[in-house]
Amino acid sequence: MSMLPLVASTAASIILAGSVFAASKDELLMNQVKAVASTLCDWAGLSRPQENDAIGSRPGFGEERAVEIVQPGGTAQIRTLKIPEGATTTGYNVARRTKHLRGSKRDDLVEVGVSHFAINFADVCIRLGLYESAIRNVGYPIVPGFDIAGVVTKVPDNCDLKVGDRVFGATLFGGYSTKVSVPKNQLREVPQYVTSEQAAALPAVSLTALHALTIAGFPALSKCSIPLGKNKSVLVHSASGGVGGMLVQFAKLCGAENVVGVVGRKNKTEYAISLGCDAVVYKEGKSKGEWWKEVEEANGGVGYKAIFDANGVETLQASYEHLDLCGRLVVYGFHTNLDNGTSLSPLSWIRMIIGFLKMPRFDAMQMTLDSRAVLGFNLSFFENETELIGDYFNTITTWLSAKKFQLPKVNLYEMDEVAQTHELIQSGKSIGKIVVRTNKNEL
Ligand SMILES: *[C@@H]1O[C@H](CO)[C@@H](O)[C@H](O)[C@H]1NC(C)=O
Ligand SMILES: *[C@@H]1O[C@H](CO)[C@@H](O)[C@H](O)[C@H]1NC(C)=O
Ligand SMILES: *[C@@H]1O[C@H](CO)[C@@H](O)[C@H](O)[C@H]1NC(C)=O
Ligand SMILES: *[C@@H]1O[C@H](CO)[C@@H](O)[C@H](O)[C@H]1NC(C)=O
Ligand SMILES: *[C@@H]1O[C@H](CO)[C@@H](O)[C@H](O)[C@H]1NC(C)=O
Repeated sequence: MSMLPLVASTAASIILAGSVFAASKDELLMNQVKAVASTLCDWAGLSRPQENDAIGSRPGFGEERAVEIVQPGGTAQIRTLKIPEGATTTGYNVARRTKHLRGSKRDDLVEVGVSHFAINFADVCIRLGLYESAIRNVGYPIVPGFDIAGVVTKVPDNCDLKVGDRVFGATLFGGYSTKVSVPKNQLREVPQYVTSEQAAALPAVSLTALHALTIAGFPALSKCSIPLGKNKSVLVHSASGGVGGMLVQFAKLCGAENVVGVVGRKNKTEYAISLGCDAVVYKEGKSKGEWWKEVEEANGGVGYKAIFDANGVETLQASYEHLDLCGRLVVYGFHTNLDNGTSLSPLSWIRMIIGFLKMPRFDAMQMTLDSRAVLGFNLSFFENETELIGDYFNTITTWLSAKKFQLPKVNLYEMDEVAQTHELIQSGKSIGKIVVRTNKNEL
């Protein structure tokens, strides 16, 4: 047992030395050590589940509540808590380093009674202590969650929304909650034909997809585009996934000419076609060489103008090599770098470290010689970009109202099943978006 802390801290420093987590902050390191130690305890069966603070067992049932991650680690770190009277959860662009908000000087906050919130892959990263903005801006315990839908319960002056409106929106954490304060530009009214559970599935995936397409040069916003040139061919990895499904549909709406999707299992092909892919390549039962060859053939042997990749180490290098002249590789995650086991074994940590060490490094001079670009981003940069979020959100709601795209498939869970949903997402076997209903605030 005395080896454990040593193994843990070595693992943490190696991960930190990787290019993704370049910040050498003590807190980041400490969180990694905690996450490794706590997941090792989970794996060895030494963890006790966190006690729930509210659901069912106490008079607190029926009151406002949230789901928090106590400290970095396995799903045993997830628990429900009661939100104090008069308080709400909120994103860190409203209040940093806080779990509950009681009053704020800001005059643009809308209070939302949440009926549904979505679970995202990034939430799993937060739980594993691998999400830097969570550590830096909030710390642990943290109430994660980007996506909400519900009913407006309080509005500021000069607000287009009114009490009782059914809304959906994005918050920078704080979404796993029954009551949240959100700046008004991060909320929109839900069109009548869309259910709240469908609406809750939308914000993070659609904003991510729209921003990814915009920086790749597709004119999603009339103001901004970087010309792509002829042959606007697009390759989307995980085309049947949350962001992937949006990328396929939005790429079509933005004028992409040949949209090719890659999916894991053969039986996801049909769904990817129904989203608008011109061709779909599945990986099941094929070697890497085989399916990449099919990817080439699907664009007539020519490279792609834009490739969207959140796979990480598994595909990044090959994606870069499949870009056309002036092509752009947009990276918005590193999913295969994380192991798919639900509580990480020592072996999975070693595999993750090897993954980070094998991450391709892109050379600026080579990119110039190749006339290709690699672009990366994550939703955290939206923090102060109020106008940009507003523009994206307007585009999305306009398309949504006009029924221009298919809504994601939703799998519905209860508030005390959040740990299961994290396990499901980590296993990579979930199809469609996972949405949790709070059993409150439904119209
Ligand atoms: C690229 O565009 C040219 C001219 O529009 C066209 O002839 C050619 O077939 C296109 N190539 C692909 C792979 O779409
Ligand atoms: C696809 O096949 C896998 C097993 O190979 C199964 O678990 C999954 O439910 C299937 N998905 C669909 C959409 O049929
Ligand atoms: C947003 O603004 C706050 C306050 O000015 C600042 O501390 C923070 O670093 C900014 N965030 C980003 C992502 O630029
Ligand atoms: C996301 O982007 C912000 C800057 O926009 C950065 O500070 C942060 O480390 C990035 N990564 C994560 C996981 O939040
Ligand atoms: C994780 O992925 C590996 C290889 O990709 C696979 O063999 C294994 O069955 C997966 N485990 C789970 C729990 O899905």
